[in-house]
Amino acid sequence: MISSKNDIGPIGIFDSGYGGLTILNAIRKKLPQYDYLYLGDNARAPYGSRSFNIVYRFTIEAVKYLFSQGCNLVILACNTASAKALRTIQQNDLPVIDPSKRVLGVIRPTVEKIGEISRNGNIGILGTSGTIQSRSYDMEIEKLYPSFKVFSQSCPLWVPLVENFEADKDGADYFVQKYLNMLFEQSSEIDSIILGCTHYPILFNKIRQYTPKHIHIIEQGGIVADSLKDYLSRHPEMECRCSHSGTCTYLTTEDEDKFNGMASVFLNEEVKSKHINL
Ligand code: DGL
Repeated sequence: MISSKNDIGPIGIFDSGYGGLTILNAIRKKLPQYDYLYLGDNARAPYGSRSFNIVYRFTIEAVKYLFSQGCNLVILACNTASAKALRTIQQNDLPVIDPSKRVLGVIRPTVEKIGEISRNGNIGILGTSGTIQSRSYDMEIEKLYPSFKVFSQSCPLWVPLVENFEADKDGADYFVQKYLNMLFEQSSEIDSIILGCTHYPILFNKIRQYTPKHIHIIEQGGIVADSLKDYLSRHPEMECRCSHSGTCTYLTTEDEDKFNGMASVFLNEEVKSKHINL
């Protein structure tokens, strides 16, 4: 299914569920002129505790679907998918599916930014079990900033809290505090923490509440939006294949009404999604 270089289509934004909406939101603010096609695999979320092969299989299915809907550029707005599937998709799948299409992730742009933010090079990473076990952040940080020290903590219950509408409820406090304490027990020197899961900004207020004030909390939305803007300015051959009508379309593998209710809260606007099967 090699496509013509003249075809244009929306930018695909993929996440296991609602978390990628935090990335989409920031991207649309920075680059409102493009069309976006958001796909949340809510029916199969969370991905964070799933094996490498399953995350890869689910992610490539989603990417192929977005390609079939006309996307030439897909952002994996999901750290777990970026950690476990991005490299294989870029190296093995794209050359076979269509070498002119691109899939980008969220880990590299985030790591590039921390050098500007951290003063002492002690970085805390919070992510799903899959992202933390993959050591993707550790490896990227080691490549770019060999003198930095990385402390990692998986937060396996944070995504279920978000996906089950509990993020702003009292019960969430216990697990927010628990995983943050486990991170801070590893080092008292940490001066910056990366929210290495696109769901975590939805818990931002509670994370801020239990994090010492001097510690920077790094959210990915703005970083990924800046990085996409930079990418498109450096790749005019891709920029001209992204359609410019300023629309946003939502797809979910779950029930449409369920997705609409939750997505509208995150985005502060009414969302009308369409159910699809992968
Ligand atoms: N939001 C995703 C991430 O950034 C995945 C969360 C999940 O499905 O476990 O890792």
